[in-house]
Amino acid sequence: MRIGPVLFSDYKRGEGIKKALSLTRNDILFELKTSQLKGRGGAGFPVSTKWMLTAAASGNEKFIVCNADEGEPGTFKDRVLLTEYPYLVFDGMVIGGYTIGAKNGILYLRGEYEFMKKELEDYLENMRKDNLLGKRILGNENFNFDITIRLGAGAYVCGEETALIESLEGHRGESRNRPPYPVNTGFNNNPTSVNNVETLATVPHIILKGGEWYKKMGTDKSTGSKLFSISGDCKKPGVYELQWGTTINEILKLVEAEDTKAVQVGGASGICLNSSQFNRKLAYEDAATGGSIMIFNRSRNMISILKNFMEFFVEESCGQCTPCRAGNVKLLEGVEMLEKGKYDIKYINTLKELGKTMQISSKCGLGQSSPNPFLSILENFKEEIFGNNGNGDKK
Ligand SMILES: Cc1cc2nc3c(=O)[nH]c(=O)nc-3n(C[C@H](O)[C@H](O)[C@H](O)COP(=O)(O)O)c2cc1C
Ligand code: SF4
Repeated sequence: MRIGPVLFSDYKRGEGIKKALSLTRNDILFELKTSQLKGRGGAGFPVSTKWMLTAAASGNEKFIVCNADEGEPGTFKDRVLLTEYPYLVFDGMVIGGYTIGAKNGILYLRGEYEFMKKELEDYLENMRKDNLLGKRILGNENFNFDITIRLGAGAYVCGEETALIESLEGHRGESRNRPPYPVNTGFNNNPTSVNNVETLATVPHIILKGGEWYKKMGTDKSTGSKLFSISGDCKKPGVYELQWGTTINEILKLVEAEDTKAVQVGGASGICLNSSQFNRKLAYEDAATGGSIMIFNRSRNMISILKNFMEFFVEESCGQCTPCRAGNVKLLEGVEMLEKGKYDIKYINTLKELGKTMQISSKCGLGQSSPNPFLSILENFKEEIFGNNGNGDKK
């Protein structure tokens, strides 16, 4: 683990809540807007806007949901936050509840993280004892708020916020049409803000130290720091807190990776870069990522890597829409043809078009992003896949 300037810096539990309750909701929204904090779950939606919209939405009850599904292959940063820094996550939820006007928060914990549940429940109980949860929090007459924990059942798509809400309501985990968005019609049709674990854990620091402080880190368009889950062929894998704008080359040096051939940025649904692209910056405006960085050295076979990713998407597609349900199967078949060396390049090119069609026509982010590894690996590792001239003239 590498300690960084924000999330892993000093913090006394409850401090952020205390400060937030001394501020108005508008003050909090102002600090978050100034910080330019964007959601860390992948989509990068500004937190201040999401909370402002949920606060402004009409509804009897409002909810703040912490998305702890962390199903993206290669991502394990939320796990570290939940096990080592739960107070940051929960304090962020309380601040969120206060800001949007919610009485209830729900932590949606992925099924595979069930082992954490007891400790997290104990932690919540201690917060109740210290009046950081419950009625009239820290003497604030108008603020009652509590948190419950709900377990997922192991489907990757349930990390998508509308599928997550369906799952919370006891239905099959399938994404909904958007609009309406959860900020208006979320859990049980109530206004709901779904936020990633890391997003929520960042909030207490911003409330304590101010949006201007946060904004000074990172790049103009990607402010602050980010947790990266770094795995694969390197000597020092782990969770690293780094400022946005760090280049892939800098990361490879930090984790002592040698002879690196490929870096998959953003998990299985991200893009795969070759060594000529390692000067790219990790930032929303360049190589965007929810935090997963997978490193592959020269001993690895790119088709095997791609096959592994596509098998995952075939397995995890919820099957609701045709581009994703049928498209991922077709892309996987194409990868198997490449693996055997028996393919028609015209057909492979048709599959690339299919991948692009899936990106724009799939119903949710799963099918919109699952062609990314297919398209980027075929483009960035042409020589290895198609032979020396990279034109792919095999049959
Ligand atoms: C297939 C799929 C899986 C997702 N999995 C997660 C996840 O595990 N954790 C998460 O925070 N967001 C995940 N997201 C993004 C959520 O839909 C949503 O954008 C996010 O929880 C919002 O929080 P944020 O604004 O703090 O980023 C996923 C999206 C898709 C399409
Ligand atoms: S894109 Fe895939 S996961 Fe999303 S609704 Fe369509 S079939 Fe389901």
